[in-house]
Amino acid sequence: EKGGYDYFMLKEIAEQPQAVADTLLGRLTEGGEIMLDEVRLTDQDLRDVDKIFIVACGTAYHAGLVAKYAIEHWTRIPCEVELASEFRYRDPVLDRSTLVVAISQSGETMDTLMALRHAKEQKARVLAICNTNGSTIPRESDAVLYTHSGPEIAVASTKAFLTQLVACYLIGLHLAQVRGVKYADEVGAVVAQLQEMPGKLRDLLADIEPVRELARDLKSAPTVLFIGRHVGYPVALEGALKLKELAYMHAEGFAAGELKHGPIALIDQGTPVVCVVPSPAGRGMLHDKIVSNIQEVRARGARTIVIAEEGDTAVLPYADHLITVPRTPTLLAPLVTTVPLQVLACEIAAARGHDVDQPRNLAKSVTVE
Ligand code: F6R
Repeated sequence: EKGGYDYFMLKEIAEQPQAVADTLLGRLTEGGEIMLDEVRLTDQDLRDVDKIFIVACGTAYHAGLVAKYAIEHWTRIPCEVELASEFRYRDPVLDRSTLVVAISQSGETMDTLMALRHAKEQKARVLAICNTNGSTIPRESDAVLYTHSGPEIAVASTKAFLTQLVACYLIGLHLAQVRGVKYADEVGAVVAQLQEMPGKLRDLLADIEPVRELARDLKSAPTVLFIGRHVGYPVALEGALKLKELAYMHAEGFAAGELKHGPIALIDQGTPVVCVVPSPAGRGMLHDKIVSNIQEVRARGARTIVIAEEGDTAVLPYADHLITVPRTPTLLAPLVTTVPLQVLACEIAAARGHDVDQPRNLAKSVTVE
């Protein structure tokens, strides 16, 4: 049942190329148009949207944080991302022209369900991104985009996260197309890039052994910090969450630019810092900024684990450990940069002797508030 893998989590990590392909399947036309047939909102409804809220918990929330960068860039619609457990308690401003996107693998998370019920009471339109057919969240939503990534057995979310990202990209591109906004001309290029992702993920997974070795090396670290900028920031949060839930280690993700405002004081001789580096080909300034953040932490004794694109030579002098990922446009990069962090957390947890698939105190779906 585990298909030759020691854990369901490793099996599900390995399934990610196929899962991403399955989320894309049947949703892109020959001409590069995006078809979202289960989205029961008219094009006019989508043209009327003037604000988007994404609500979700845990890993799904991190997918939402990535989505904000893509959706705002492509559509120019303001997009906020909020923890579902906080959303309704602050009386958010919602109306008919608000689109609330609820992201949930299980479709049963009570916090997310209560957030969506609140949104519906306020007349907002609700679109669910979900992996579980017929579950409560999609049933109560106006529209649903299923991720089709297959059942996820391991408690820690992996393939569901990648496919939530793909679903968010599709929604962003679809909104851009329907509304014909400024960046609509990028849509065709991004669609082609999305179709290349399963192949890139296969290449990445074929070369993952160095991450496993590194995991054995890090298993006794008292803390592991993760830093990133732009879409690399939610990836850093996700890497830290995985390590906490599986390895029971202290881990924290930071926006790299915030380090100097406090957290840099945590860095001691040998503190592992995982640095998520964006493509040097994309937003050049972003890349330069994180390279200088890596220098800063290293100068204070950090042991740097750098996740960077193949051929990125600028990071070489500052990387104690280098993990390379295939070249990927900035907004889509979380699809590749997250994968080594999943493997890292899984292998560290295994090296510490923990039950990777069933971490203590956690359940696969959280049906209480
Ligand atoms: C982390 C993890 C959790 C879930 C969260 C939301 O690996 O699995 O953080 O992402 O509980 O669950 P869903 O997506 O089912 O609403």
